Amino acid sequence: MTTSAIQFISPLTFQALSGNPVQTQLLDTEQENAMGHINLARWADKIIIAPATANIIAKLAHGIADDLVSTLCLAAECPIYFAPAMNQAMWHKTITQTNIKSLQQQGMQLISPEQGLQACGEIGWGRLSEPATICDYLINHQLTIDKSLSGLKLLITAGPTREPLDPVRYLSNRSSGKMGYALAEAALEAGAIVSLVTGPVNLIAPIGVNLITVETAAEMFDAVISRATSHDIYIGAAAVADYTPIKKQTRKIKKQDQENSVSLQRTKDILATVALLPKRPFVVGFAAETHDLETYALAKLNQKKLDMIAANWVGHEQGGFENDNNALQVFWHTGQKKLPMTDKKQLAKQLIALIVERKK
Ligand code: PMT
Repeated sequence: MTTSAIQFISPLTFQALSGNPVQTQLLDTEQENAMGHINLARWADKIIIAPATANIIAKLAHGIADDLVSTLCLAAECPIYFAPAMNQAMWHKTITQTNIKSLQQQGMQLISPEQGLQACGEIGWGRLSEPATICDYLINHQLTIDKSLSGLKLLITAGPTREPLDPVRYLSNRSSGKMGYALAEAALEAGAIVSLVTGPVNLIAPIGVNLITVETAAEMFDAVISRATSHDIYIGAAAVADYTPIKKQTRKIKKQDQENSVSLQRTKDILATVALLPKRPFVVGFAAETHDLETYALAKLNQKKLDMIAANWVGHEQGGFENDNNALQVFWHTGQKKLPMTDKKQLAKQLIALIVERKK
């Protein structure tokens, strides 16, 4: 416990509840060589800092070791996890986000805070994750962090596109971006350098990604094609519009008594264009289908000359668009694998593992 933590809860309470001794001092006079922090660092399988204040995050980012917690972390060689908790304004400060990114680049694992009412009365991001969520994360996370994508560059698309009809209306779809963002997070965790080209969504991008925001299919096309050849893997998880209005009206379309119609033209296919590039990355497409999933997925795999395609059902209550959960049927030219319904974050890890396996 740090000096600040002791001001909230006494070490005695922690000792009584956990049945374990509580360490607070850097130099432990009860230890033969007073080097308790080194012994603790050697002993631990994992270190979890919860709650991790903006202060301890800043100290760890800069290698400051002026108390037991910061010194222990500097001396440790085991995985370190940190679950931030702080006021929403502190969380959003550029310096805090830079420090968090620095910890992640050093291999420490972020257990993201939640949004909601804070102890200070404000509402926003920065609430400590629920203890059950922290435990789930630790249980599900491998002890040795798999850095199988280390050194590789991934380009991922996520979310919907918006095709403007007039200054106030657009054609779009139900994609929330959750699947694509989960893939970006899983790829980062596996050690990749990740660029995420995203349509308009209400999600916070994983810290550490190179985020490129776009609105229309044409903007997404340009953002992807200008970057694709400098990447090793391309994953098209975005729900890109297949059609866009031929003409965007410059004024709001007024209602009229008779029927109205809009003429649409095809958008350019980003995925198929990436697959045809001379120095192409490993190309993974998605297929969103309401019927004949396998037939359409295999047709897209072959016609678009992909390396792999992840097919999912859409238009159902479970999985697909908007939901937190999804299931995938993944096809490549010599095989297939079903990834059963689970949380999109877990599913993303499984798909990334499969891509690593097939790319070899
Ligand atoms: O965002 P969520 O709410 O989490 O939902 C996830 C998802 C359902 C959007 C995602 O899992 C998914 O299926 N994404 C692809 C949606 C889609 O557009 O599927 P499609 O079958 O219409 O397109 C096939 C592939 O071609 C996709 O990889 C798509 O990105 C790509 N495409 C399509 C049109 C186009 N002009 N350019 C493209 O690159």
